[in-house]
Amino acid sequence: MTAETWTAVDDFFERQLISTDPVLEETLRSSAAAGLPSIQVSPTQGKLLHLLAQASGARRILEIGTLGGYSTTWLARALPADGRLLSLELDPRHAEVARANLARAGLVGKVEVRVGPALESLSRLVAENGTPFDLVFIDADKPNTRAYFDRALQLTRPGALLVVDNVVRKGELANPSSDDPNVRGMREFVESLRAERRVRATGIQTVGRKGYDGFVLARVVTP
Ligand code: SAH
Ligand code: DHB
Ligand code: MG
Repeated sequence: MTAETWTAVDDFFERQLISTDPVLEETLRSSAAAGLPSIQVSPTQGKLLHLLAQASGARRILEIGTLGGYSTTWLARALPADGRLLSLELDPRHAEVARANLARAGLVGKVEVRVGPALESLSRLVAENGTPFDLVFIDADKPNTRAYFDRALQLTRPGALLVVDNVVRKGELANPSSDDPNVRGMREFVESLRAERRVRATGIQTVGRKGYDGFVLARVVTP
């Protein structure tokens, strides 16, 4: 089996399951034109996020790592009329591209992109003690994943879902001697789940047009 096969299957899934969508296509086009890296979730992954948000009835969503707003759009479109999504992004250029894309998607009233280091934004949110989130998508700088997960747990209600992207890293997750800070960050994160009583979690490996990777899905345990 090869990466070409994985991509061919994603092509087939996309043709059969995902309607062509001018808004999402323009989001990808304008992100590429602005020089943003093409590392957004794939269409089938975006739709999985959308379905998870709908299935869990999420009304408040937190995203860490906006890029051009592609996953943001998939998630925000799953919200009810009065639902809200807050997305945290370090790079003001990425945030600017994302805001334009979200405006084109008609999501201005639903989505806020907040610029700054996510750890700082999260600490401020914890201090504000606002309405808890129902779903969190963690997809920013990988070494900080455990710290983001920890803050997210302080910002969610029991029953909330947390999705963490890019955990498997071509299988390097299983390599204890990796010196890649992204791999080490994900190993530390997964290792921390062993003693984490506040969630029930699983890890799922994925292949597709983004290669071999995977995600962790966790549900905040009802006390
Ligand atoms: N979720 C997006 C992809 C995000 S890529 C999608 O699937 O469409 C990761 C993003 O995290 C990049 O835009 C990067 O600028 C941002 N990022 C990196 N370090 C960060 C930090 N410390 N705080 C907030 N965002 C950060
Ligand atoms: C990278 C980041 C991502 O969030 C992703 O899904 C794939 C790749 C990266 O930084 O290379
Ligand atoms: Mg990602």
